[in-house]
Amino acid sequence: MTSVMTYQKYVRISLVALVWCPLLEAGLISRATPTGIEIGVTETLMMECLFTPGTDTKLTYASSIKLFHSESSAYAKYIDILTVLNVNNILGKAKDSADVKAEGSIDHTNPSVLRITWKGPTAKHSGSYKCVAHGVDENGNPDTVQSETVVTAKDADIEKVVDHVNHLNQQVDQLLKELNATEAKNNQLENEKKQQQQHLIDAQDSLFTPSPAFNGSRYLLTKTAGAMNYFNSVLTCGRLGGYLAEIDSEEEYKFVLDSLLKSSAYESVLISGTDEAVDKVWVHSFSKNNVTFFKWATYRPDSRELLNCLAYRKQLQWHNVEMECKTLCAFDGTLAFLCEVPDKSYEIIGNQH
Ligand SMILES: *[C@@H]1O[C@H](CO)[C@@H](O)[C@H](O)[C@H]1NC(C)=O
Ligand SMILES: *[C@@H]1O[C@H](CO)[C@@H](O)[C@H](O)[C@H]1NC(C)=O
Ligand SMILES: *[C@@H]1O[C@H](CO)[C@@H](O)[C@H](O)[C@H]1NC(C)=O
Repeated sequence: MTSVMTYQKYVRISLVALVWCPLLEAGLISRATPTGIEIGVTETLMMECLFTPGTDTKLTYASSIKLFHSESSAYAKYIDILTVLNVNNILGKAKDSADVKAEGSIDHTNPSVLRITWKGPTAKHSGSYKCVAHGVDENGNPDTVQSETVVTAKDADIEKVVDHVNHLNQQVDQLLKELNATEAKNNQLENEKKQQQQHLIDAQDSLFTPSPAFNGSRYLLTKTAGAMNYFNSVLTCGRLGGYLAEIDSEEEYKFVLDSLLKSSAYESVLISGTDEAVDKVWVHSFSKNNVTFFKWATYRPDSRELLNCLAYRKQLQWHNVEMECKTLCAFDGTLAFLCEVPDKSYEIIGNQH
């Protein structure tokens, strides 16, 4: 049995978002969404150049819009990455692929746009971006306007661990398959499998306090939440091969309470369930099932519009409270989240009997 671990490492995950809008030319806007990348957690980065003719700009007409990028923002060394010419003639290094989507169009009555979206942006996507629109001014003379934006990147320490866990998960799955395929009680495979399982558990332990197995699942309580919110917690649990804990029964709640919550120093622990879509209809983000089990305190705070997420609160003997989904980081250090992951060792034992 795995006992509750003490803190080994204090891993802080934070998102730094800086925006720098120098010399923004009205009429041409460069926009990054988001303005700060948290590597391994940010799903996409979108850069846009938006040009609106006739709005307080030197240009009355744009014939091309170009996007440049410089990895350094202090000593900008711009590289031309994408151009839109005429109506929707896209040119440039950044071609569409599984991880990149480039689109754009020049429209002489509506805003023209040049847009590129990267999946899983990394440090190399940070730096300065510059949009440049070429066209003619009201006297018919060629002219240019430009606009710059800075995108920052921050390492999420969690990334390496999560990737490592993913990798180990795949290895354990592969070993399970091989075991199934041969149906033989191959000692070498057994040992390898046990070793990989141990690595998997060790990797998870560096970031999470694990529970023993319960009904095919293991519960992982973050050792620090840092700047986590509901969205990031859902993503992080997913990357571990699990999901934000879906507590569906008194037994499951009791188990989590006894194995993790009671010994935890946190004020609040975030679990799955949000009523963001329809007030008071709580839905799990992973299974999409309705939440059917609650542990409301005898007094239940009035449901306010912004409180759309569920947590257990120590001050209320670990009963449920409603929390704001976005600003959980405001409780710095006092808030954690709970992942539920399929228990591989359970699976293995299950296969053998
Ligand atoms: C191994 O076999 C069992 C029963 O036949 C099956 O349920 C399980 O999904 C298999 N596991 C893998 C990894 O293929
Ligand atoms: C154990 O898991 C099964 C399948 O997910 C579920 O139907 C059952 O209610 C769970 N048992 C307990 C005690 O939570
Ligand atoms: C969840 O609850 C709502 C409201 O009670 C209901 O309309 C919906 O069908 C339920 N969804 C599921 C998946 O059971």
